[in-house]
Amino acid sequence: MKVTESVNFYQGLDPFDIISEYGSPAYVYNERILRERCREIKTLSSYAGYIPNYSAKSNGNLTLLKIIKSEGFCVDAVSCGEIFACLAAGFDASDIFYITNNASADEFRYALDKGALISADSLSQLELIGEISPGAKVSVRFNPGVGDGHGEKVITGGKKTKFGVNAEDAKTVADIARKRGMEIIGVNQHIGSLFMDAGKYFEGANALLDIARQFPSVKMIDFGGGFGIPYKKQSGEQRMDLEALSENLEKVIWKFNTELGRQLQFRVEPGRYISAECGVLLGTVNAVKENGGKKYIGSDLGFTTLIRPTLYDSHHDVEIYKKGSELSSGSELAHIVGNICESGDYIAKDREIPRRVAVGDIVAALDAGAYGYAMASNYNLRARPAEVLVRPSGETVLIRRGDTFEDMIANCVNVDILR
Ligand code: LLP
Repeated sequence: MKVTESVNFYQGLDPFDIISEYGSPAYVYNERILRERCREIKTLSSYAGYIPNYSAKSNGNLTLLKIIKSEGFCVDAVSCGEIFACLAAGFDASDIFYITNNASADEFRYALDKGALISADSLSQLELIGEISPGAKVSVRFNPGVGDGHGEKVITGGKKTKFGVNAEDAKTVADIARKRGMEIIGVNQHIGSLFMDAGKYFEGANALLDIARQFPSVKMIDFGGGFGIPYKKQSGEQRMDLEALSENLEKVIWKFNTELGRQLQFRVEPGRYISAECGVLLGTVNAVKENGGKKYIGSDLGFTTLIRPTLYDSHHDVEIYKKGSELSSGSELAHIVGNICESGDYIAKDREIPRRVAVGDIVAALDAGAYGYAMASNYNLRARPAEVLVRPSGETVLIRRGDTFEDMIANCVNVDILR
C-alpha cells in the first residue's frame, strides 16, 4: 500500500485533478495531518508552563501558520521577514521568539519595536542589544556543547558551529547584562535538526539547565527543536519515540522546578516535526531517457522546488501515479531528476521505481512540507509552485499562488537606462 493511501493523504481526491486545477508542480498540504502533528507536540507535557513553539522557518505559509496558531502554539522567527509573516498570520508579538544570529542593530530594533522576545546568539550581539536597548529583557542562546542532526550543515551545537554562547562565557553574559541594565529572562538552545533518538537532546537540555542555574532572573528555558520524522517510510522506518521524549521532558521540568522552588516556563521549538509530513510535492514526468546505462526520469521537480536532496543528499520517498491504470509490478533502478541546468539536480538517486514510468505520470515527493517551499527559489527563472491545502472535508483551497513570469522580473528597476 502506498504511504499516501495509508494516511488518506489526498482525502479521496485524485492527484491528477489537483494538478490539472492548480498546475504542476504543486505543493499539497493535508490540514488533518498538520493538526495531528501539532497535537502530538502540544501534549508532550501537561505542565501549565510548557509552551510549544513552531519554528516558522520550516514552512511560513500564512494559512499553515494560522492553523498552527489555532492549535495553541507560539512561534519562533529567525528574521524580521518571519516576524512580519507571523504577525500577519495573527500571532501576538508576545508569542514570537526572535531567535536570530548575526543580526544588525536595525533588525533588533524592528523585533524590539514589535514586542517580540529576542535571543542573543553571541556576546557581541548581547552588547549590541544592550547599546540599542539598555534595560532590555532578553534570552541568550547557549551552545550546550553537544550537537545532533542529519548532517554537518544542520548540526548547531558542539565545537564545529557558529551558533550560541559557550557555557564558559556565562559569567561574561552576566557582566554585560549588569553593565547594560539588561535582564536575562531566558536561556535557549538548539542542538541541530533531525534526530530520531533524543539522547543528545536531553544531554543538551541538562547542560542548558546547568547554565540556567547561574541566572537567578531566568523565567524561560527553551530546549530547541530538531525532532526527526521517518523519511524512509517505504522501507519501514519507525517514528521517533515521542512517549519516551514526553516522559523525559516531564521529569526534567518537574525536577528543575522543584530544585529552584519556582515555576519556570519551558519551551520546545520543532519545525520539521510539525510541517514535514503534511506536505507532498506533486510533479509531472516530462521525459524518460537512458544515459550511460542509467535510466533517468525527467520531471518538473527541479531543485528550485525541493532542494533537500541536492543540498544535503536527503532522502524523500517518491510515489509514481499513472492516470487511469495500474503501474506494472516489476521495478527498476532510476534517477529521478528535475528541469534545472545543473547535474546535481535530482529528487532521488538510484531509486527503485515501477517499470514503464512514462511521460505524463505524476511524481510525488513525500514528507516535503518542511524546508520544501521554504527553500524554493527562482533560479533558472523557474516559477515557485502553488501551495494547495486539502481540508478535512476533502475540499482543496489555493493557499499561495505560483509565481508568474511578471513576479519574477518585478523587482528589476531602472531597466530603461540602456534605452
Ligand atoms: N530552532 C532553531 C534555533 C533552529 O535553527 C531550527 C532549525 C529549529 C528550531 C527547528 O528545527 P527542526 O525542528 O525543524 O529540525 N534546511 C534543513 C534544516 C535546517 C534547520 C535550521 N534550523 C533541512 O532541510 O533539513
